[in-house]
Amino acid sequence: MLGELRRVHGRSLSRLNVVDIGCGTGSNLRAVAPLLGREQSWRLVDNDPILLEAARHAISGWADMVLEDTTSSLTVRKGVCEIQVAFVAADLAENVEAVQGMFEADLLTASALFDLVSASWLTTFCERLSCPLYTVLTYDGRMQWTPVHPLDVEVVEAFNAHQLTDKGFGPAAGWQAVSILEQQLTRKGMVVVKGDSTWHLEAGDARLHHQLLQGVAAAAGKMHQLGMPDINDWLAFRLDSTSGSIGHLDLFAAGQSS
Ligand SMILES: C[S@@+](CC[C@H](N)C(=O)[O-])C[C@H]1O[C@@H](n2cnc3c(N)ncnc32)[C@H](O)[C@@H]1O
Repeated sequence: MLGELRRVHGRSLSRLNVVDIGCGTGSNLRAVAPLLGREQSWRLVDNDPILLEAARHAISGWADMVLEDTTSSLTVRKGVCEIQVAFVAADLAENVEAVQGMFEADLLTASALFDLVSASWLTTFCERLSCPLYTVLTYDGRMQWTPVHPLDVEVVEAFNAHQLTDKGFGPAAGWQAVSILEQQLTRKGMVVVKGDSTWHLEAGDARLHHQLLQGVAAAAGKMHQLGMPDINDWLAFRLDSTSGSIGHLDLFAAGQSS
């Protein structure tokens, strides 16, 4: 990603204009901004105003110094970077282009968003995309644990079926989202690079792992492919898992069309 951005914007990567869609509490900005140039301008987009407010607090706490904090934006210093952040409440399900100028950014980012959107939303998104895209942590349908349990495969199948249900954008692309993006962006002439960002959860990650297992069990239960006693037995066993891996993919696309 950085190599391509440097080719277009120069080594210093300064004054980049980045839009992060489905920003949640701003984790993507906190991960990516330190890799970019000294002056950055970000727009964080979400349809949940509570998360946008949480993002403002999280970024203020993460920064070395808050330089300016107004209703419409926040400017912080982190290391050598001065980062201006605008918070945009918009419903991307209503309109792919809910955010004005989103596709004219220097970089469009999204973390853990694209498995929620529909295949038709992705098609329109890919048609409109005219800038580099960096998306991380899209679930890809693979989950495994140690030790194994006889219902692991069926629980993952039920969870993956739930992934395809409507999350506000129509039937979701779920674990197929990255292949859809890859196919459509390659077809339009962009250069696409994919990376495996599987979560490897070990004993020290028990808190996150337990929350995740409870979410998997709840979503799998909603599909009625397994009875609740089976799901509960599986969950009780799984909460003692020593380790697990949850498949995620990252994707960067740029090139001719950007
Ligand atoms: C799984 S969370 C990921 C949050 C964040 N990017 C992260 O990785 O921590 C998905 C995010 O998409 C947002 N979202 C869901 N539907 C949306 C919509 N229709 N318009 C805008 N944002 C939406 C949610 O509010 C949530 O913050």
